[in-house]
Amino acid sequence: MASLTGATSHLLPSATTSATSASTTARLAISFSSSSSSLKCIRSSPLLPHIFRYQKRALIGTTSSGRFSTLASPKCAASDPDQLKSAREDIKELLKTTFCHPILVRLGWHDAGTYNKNIEDWPQRGGANGSLRFEVELKHGANAGLVNALKLLQPIKDKYAGVTYADLFQLASATAIEEAGGPKIPMKYGRVDVSGPEECPEEGRLPDAGPPSPSSHLRDVFYRMGLNDKEIVALSGAHTLGRSRPDRSGWGKPETRYTKDGPGSPGGQSWTVQWLKFDNSYFKDIKEQRDEDLLVLPTDAVLFEDSSFKEYAEKYAVNQDVFFKDYTEAHAKLSNLGAKFDPLEGFSIDNNPTQGQPEKFVAAKYSTGKRELSDAMKQKIRAEYEGLGGTPDKPLPTNYFLNIIIVIGVLAILTYLFGN
Ligand code: HEM
Repeated sequence: MASLTGATSHLLPSATTSATSASTTARLAISFSSSSSSLKCIRSSPLLPHIFRYQKRALIGTTSSGRFSTLASPKCAASDPDQLKSAREDIKELLKTTFCHPILVRLGWHDAGTYNKNIEDWPQRGGANGSLRFEVELKHGANAGLVNALKLLQPIKDKYAGVTYADLFQLASATAIEEAGGPKIPMKYGRVDVSGPEECPEEGRLPDAGPPSPSSHLRDVFYRMGLNDKEIVALSGAHTLGRSRPDRSGWGKPETRYTKDGPGSPGGQSWTVQWLKFDNSYFKDIKEQRDEDLLVLPTDAVLFEDSSFKEYAEKYAVNQDVFFKDYTEAHAKLSNLGAKFDPLEGFSIDNNPTQGQPEKFVAAKYSTGKRELSDAMKQKIRAEYEGLGGTPDKPLPTNYFLNIIIVIGVLAILTYLFGN
C-alpha cells in the first residue's frame, strides 16, 4: 500500500494524530458550543477520536456540570439534504472528467458489504457507515486500490462538511450507476459515520473471487448480509462496469484490447467490451465465455452453473428490463445495510413532485395571461356542455337554441299579459 502517502496522508488518522494540539482543542470546544455546522464538519473527520481524546483531557476537572458530557458526546446528525444535492452535481462532474464510475461503485459496495445481520449493535454489525475511509480497513486485501476512490471523493467531502462519508460513498455509487446508463436507484440518506478506526470491521467479511466452492462461499457471505440468491446474481451484474487489475486484486490480465487505451488509467481486464456502460452485457458475456479478452472470475462463472443462480442469470441475459428492476431493488437494499440513519427513517434527495396530492392553489397561476386549462377544468366544462346537449367537437344543435328563444318569447308574452 505504497500509495498511502502524499496527497492521501491527510485522509488518514495515523498521519495526523500528532498534529492535534491543545490550542486546536480549545478552538474546537468553542466551535462545538457555538455552531452546529462546525459540529458537522468536525463530526465527519477521521481525526475525531483524537480530537475527543484531547478535548476530554482539556475539559475534565474544569466543570462538574452536565456541560462536559454534552460536549464530549455530541449528537450525530444526518447529512444536509441541500449539500447532498450539490455533492451529487460535483460527483457528476468528477465522473465526466475521470471516468471513475466503476471504482465508485466498488467503494460503495465494499463499505456496505461488511454487514453482519447476526450482530445487532452498531457499528459492530458493519455495513454502510463510512468505516472504509480509515487506513486499517483500506488495507484489507479485498479493498486493494480503493484508496484511489477515496482520493477522488475527498475534495468533495472537504467542500461539503454537512455530508457524512457513509452517505457520500453511497451517493457516489448510485450516481455512477445512473450516469453510466443504469437505472435510477431510490436511495435514502442520513447515514451516520463511525468516528474512529477502532470501529472498523475485522478483515474477511467481503467475498473472495476464487474460493474452493464459489456457490457456497457466495451464499455464506451474502446470506450473512441478509441477501438472497436473486440479489447475489443481480448485484454481480455490477461487473458490467470496470476492470480487474492484477496489481490490485491479483485477478485479470494487465491489459486487453478493450482497456489498453483507457478511458481513465489504462490497463486491467474488463468483464464487458463497453465497461463504462451499465447494461446486461455482463450476463451475455459470462454465459458465452467466447472472448479471451473478457474476464470471468470463478464467482462469475458459477452464476450459470448453480441451478438457483442460473435461473436469474439466464433471465438477465435476455431481458435487460428485468435485470434493471432487480438490480435497482438489490442496490438500494445493499446501500442501507447496517446503516444507522438520522432521522431514523432516512430521507430522499429526489424531488418527488405532488404525485397523488391535490394541486395547490397558486393565485399567480390564474391572474394573468392566457393559460391552458387544467384537465379537471376541461372535463368539468365538457360535462356541463354535454348536459346542455352539445359536445366540444360538435356545436349545440340549432333547434336547441330555437327552443330556448321560443321559451323566452313565451315567458315574455306571459309576463306582459299578466303584468297588465
Ligand atoms: C459476488 C462477489 C464478488 C466478488 C468475488 C468480486 C470481486 C471483484 C474483484 C476481484 C474485482 C477486481 C478489483 C481490482 O482488481 O481492482 C472487482 C471489481 C469490481 N467489483 Fe466486484 N466482486 C463481487 C461483487 C460485487 C458487487 C456486489 C458489486 C457491486 C454491487 C461489485 C462491483 C465491482 C466493480 C464496479 C468493480 C470494478 C472496479 C474498478 O474497475 O475499479 N462487485 N470485484
